[in-house]
Amino acid sequence: MFYPQEVIDQVIDANNIVDVIGSYVKLNKKGSTYFGLCPFHNEKTPSFSVTDNGNKQMFYCFGCHTGGSVLTFIQKYENCTYSEALKILADRAGITLPKPDYSQADAARAKRREEILEVNKLAAVYFYHLLKSNRGTQAYNYLRERGLSDETIRNFGLGYSDKYRDDLYKYIKTKGYSDEILKESGLFVINEKDTRDYFWNRVMFPIMDVRSKVIGFGGRVMGQGEPKYLNSPETVCFDKSRTLFGLNAARKYKGREFILVEGYMDVVSLHQAGFTNAVASLGTALTDGNVGVLRRFTENVIISYDSDLAGRDATLRAIPKLRDAGISVKVVNLLPYKDPDELIKAEGAEEYRNRLRNAMNSFVYEISILREGYNQNDPDEKTRFETEVARRLSYFTDDIERDNYTSAISRQFNIDLSLIRDRTKRFALNRDNIRPAQPVRSADRQRKVKSSAIGTCMEIVLSYLAKDPSFYDKISSIIDAGDFTLAPYDRIAEIMFRQLQNGKINFSGIVSSFEETEDQEKAAAIFNYDFLKENLEDDIGKVLTDCVIKIKSNNLSAKLSEAQSFEEILSIKKQQEDLKKIQISGGQ
Ligand code: CTP
Ligand code: MN
Repeated sequence: MFYPQEVIDQVIDANNIVDVIGSYVKLNKKGSTYFGLCPFHNEKTPSFSVTDNGNKQMFYCFGCHTGGSVLTFIQKYENCTYSEALKILADRAGITLPKPDYSQADAARAKRREEILEVNKLAAVYFYHLLKSNRGTQAYNYLRERGLSDETIRNFGLGYSDKYRDDLYKYIKTKGYSDEILKESGLFVINEKDTRDYFWNRVMFPIMDVRSKVIGFGGRVMGQGEPKYLNSPETVCFDKSRTLFGLNAARKYKGREFILVEGYMDVVSLHQAGFTNAVASLGTALTDGNVGVLRRFTENVIISYDSDLAGRDATLRAIPKLRDAGISVKVVNLLPYKDPDELIKAEGAEEYRNRLRNAMNSFVYEISILREGYNQNDPDEKTRFETEVARRLSYFTDDIERDNYTSAISRQFNIDLSLIRDRTKRFALNRDNIRPAQPVRSADRQRKVKSSAIGTCMEIVLSYLAKDPSFYDKISSIIDAGDFTLAPYDRIAEIMFRQLQNGKINFSGIVSSFEETEDQEKAAAIFNYDFLKENLEDDIGKVLTDCVIKIKSNNLSAKLSEAQSFEEILSIKKQQEDLKKIQISGGQ
């Protein structure tokens, strides 16, 4: 961004969101909120809301979950960049934007990027040498016991970060880099109190971009421990949502399709077994950024995520994203094994090749999961299932494609062909009366706070804070912004907590502090979280208590695994004990 935050704030303040959006969408006032037909998806009844209550200048669609600030709206509606949207709104309000100093800002940023890449490379080489030295014996043996050859270790540049608190720091310092750059590289924690390495006593996986530049690291504990993987924070070189581990090697693959897996170890062991087309996103969720990058290299993806519930869920979420990008998708069945790494170790590469050959078409996969939610022995449920299948089939606009799918599904799921053809046709004819397909969810996985991911907990706590800022006083002695360790919640929490200390939240300010619309939308979703709809309203005290405890204890475990001194360990243990006694009440 080449404009100071004050300028951005000034432009936003000068453009009332209802006025701006009202010039694109017809809005009607209901209570304190305006409603209209959403311009971002097709609908007949208005679920698109715009609020201009005091400091809450936001829009949000309850139908397609698009939302954000006035800037987000312009970016999406006019399909333009952040800077262009800013220009449009500045013009509208008669504000002259200062000349952005691209040349200078660009040059400085490019130089910092270069330096951080150098530091990363030095660190990767250092970790690799440590692994091969006496100090790395345990880590080296760990990797060999997991079945990796010397050649694989070399090809992926796997390494070891030592037990000492500033081992890497001391080494890199001899190369003359400033603390400022080292801090920005994400490899070190540098503040008034402390200067230390970010990774200790872990097996290191360098993460590379498509040009094989090291942009970050994943570090695995040897054996048990939390967190199992620690990843570099994002930096100017490292955008997790756009990075795929293994892509620098996979792009050289001569065939057509890519294999998409969950983890670092899956990629490494698949490549070793000859499947050099395997890549993994970092963490479980496949982002739109990941899909965009994949699409540049292939039109065919075989998903080979873990066979557990989380993996199945991630598969169901990845399928429509890939499909929407025009990628044809198949899904591998790994059962009874947990992930590709395990399968190959137990059954060998040939068996995995078989599984790839028999990979299921993604539409059929979705239907097979859908089927689990209906009791096939109950005529009513069977009818509902078959109707839903027909509805989904009716979305294929190409006749031949629809017909092929219809016969395949009829055969596979034992549904009468002429019957399902008829139904499908009727759905297609009534197209306009039908709501768009809802994404399939595993039948046995409804949204439950108990079993939900840490990210959901962060989302819920931040949403509740947004709804009821007085909640801040109840939790501020327990958690702080630093406990929110996942993006984009970390940034949202940081700004929000700071604002809460000063009294009030500036919602659109937080939303517009993100440049990517994807992040803006996530932030907007948080500020429009519907506790009633998520069935969390009644039990809110318990839900919040669970979430707060989960967030805190997650961070405490991470700290524990990196604690330096005995005192530190004791203090963390004490905090963990105290955490058990916490009870938070919801409500005002
Ligand atoms: N992951 C992470 N942090 C964790 C756990 C997982 O970032 N605490 C990410 C990593 O990218 C990891 C992926 O999620 O590779 C999949 O997790 P998991 O299946 O647990 O990892 P595996 O690669 O199977 O790990 P391993 O075989 O080493 O146990
Ligand atoms: Mn796994």
